[in-house]
Amino acid sequence: MVDTIHTICPGVISIELSPTSPQQLLPPFAAGAHIDLHLPNGLVRSYSLHNAPGTANRYAIGVLHDSASRGGSRWIHEQLHAGDQITISAPRNHFALNEAQEQTSVFVAGGIGVTPILSMLRRLMQLGKTAHVIYCARSRSSAPFLDDLSRLASASLTLHTHFDDEAGGPPNLQTLLATHRKDAHFYCCGPAPMLNSFEASCTALGLTHVHLERFKAEACTAPPAALNGLCTVELRKSGLTLELPKNQPTLQALLDAGVDIEFSCEEGVCGACETRILEGEAEHRDSVLSGAQKAAQKSMMVCVSRCRSDRMVLDL
Ligand code: FES
Repeated sequence: MVDTIHTICPGVISIELSPTSPQQLLPPFAAGAHIDLHLPNGLVRSYSLHNAPGTANRYAIGVLHDSASRGGSRWIHEQLHAGDQITISAPRNHFALNEAQEQTSVFVAGGIGVTPILSMLRRLMQLGKTAHVIYCARSRSSAPFLDDLSRLASASLTLHTHFDDEAGGPPNLQTLLATHRKDAHFYCCGPAPMLNSFEASCTALGLTHVHLERFKAEACTAPPAALNGLCTVELRKSGLTLELPKNQPTLQALLDAGVDIEFSCEEGVCGACETRILEGEAEHRDSVLSGAQKAAQKSMMVCVSRCRSDRMVLDL
């Protein structure tokens, strides 16, 4: 149930959700997790939780009214009210916090991308750890949750802010990241240009503990030569065998065959459809798995990824 909705800054609202009955318990979550909102208009949208794990049986999300909204964030901003009931998924986490890290963890947040990072920072402060945050936005007045970050700032949490309109352009992440120990863990969530700059900066600096989360699919082009022909896909649990064209994502064929599989964004960003690969190789086209995870061929996002090998065995 929607407990409260309040405006954080122009175009951004924070929504607190709790179970419809106080006897119900929401599934626990770890910092960095997100949930899906199943909207009455049939759309499913993922939002990161920004409250600290373990807080009293509630989830808090931040929702930006996307100017290019296809009916998700616009519906939430215009139609959702306190007291309404809405269906949500259990939390999922593809942006996990390394809670055991002894060094100061370093975070780069861009705009609404601050939401999972806020939960991580709250968790680190609960654990008595230290963190440094580089928070970037177009302007101070459009920076969501800046007050929350400022309240968290302390000897344990140092905050560096960058506002494009005051600085005259985007930040130089490589310069900002270079001042930190190379063995620290580095996290980033924000718009695609920032994530690309973060990845390039981490590579240039030789940083290895790098974590990022995309909330929009990154552009992806697979080599056409790898996509010709059919793949025989065996589904280990259901005992089905399917012939799938390699040039199409796997999800639709699985649904057509009546396979019961969870999915949400259908863009390769939420992780809902992650499926274990038992044999064979996928042509990965998602924005969830890291390069190392893609190379390991242990799982695939079937909503966008395709079969690369002539035969695959999936844990379905
Ligand atoms: S449904 Fe979201 S990654 Fe596949």
